[in-house]
Amino acid sequence: MSKQKITPVDQELTFSPDEIIVSKTDPTGKILYANDVFCRLAEMNTSDVVGQPHSIIRHPDMPRAVFKLLWDSIGSGREIFALIKNMSATGKYYWVVAHVTPSRDGAGKVLGYHSNRRAPNRASVQEIIPLYQELKAEEAKHTDRRAGLEASFALLQSKLKATGKSYDEFIWGVGGSNV
Ligand SMILES: Cc1cc2nc3c(=O)[nH]c(=O)nc-3n(C[C@H](O)[C@H](O)[C@H](O)COP(=O)(O)O)c2cc1C
Repeated sequence: MSKQKITPVDQELTFSPDEIIVSKTDPTGKILYANDVFCRLAEMNTSDVVGQPHSIIRHPDMPRAVFKLLWDSIGSGREIFALIKNMSATGKYYWVVAHVTPSRDGAGKVLGYHSNRRAPNRASVQEIIPLYQELKAEEAKHTDRRAGLEASFALLQSKLKATGKSYDEFIWGVGGSNV
């Protein structure tokens, strides 16, 4: 399934507060397992999802800086909470609050990653949208992709510094989750 062919549509998919979207990946972010709620929201079959990079559900509205933060955290062994707008196979969007953690073997070696996602509350989504739009706009200002990511990441850091919170704390501060 090629991500490039999907055109985003302005239609939201929602899920119940007691449902959890689960996926497990290898160390590169390739999906090894996705539960039925994941597949329902992604509008894909298990066979479309397993073996694909996690960016298969990436929404173009998401700033790259947020994924850099995610990978910086889990790559150095730390868990992260993130508010993410995802895209289904028909281009619809769905917001999640994700808890992403490294999975380790008995000796502590990272075998891959695990993400549990719940439905965020509406207020947290409304509060994060302008920040993500600002980060996207910063990324779009630069013709050089790397320079765009660096500038957007620096902007995210300065915004967080102003609040005195880490990204996770900020996510919980804006409401985080229904849980
Ligand atoms: C366990 C795990 C869960 C992830 N969940 C998502 C997700 O829900 N949506 C998403 O767009 N990216 C998710 N990612 C990040 C993707 O691997 C990727 O970095 C992101 O989609 C940006 O893709 P791009 O670098 O091709 O732009 C996840 C990564 C891991 C390891």
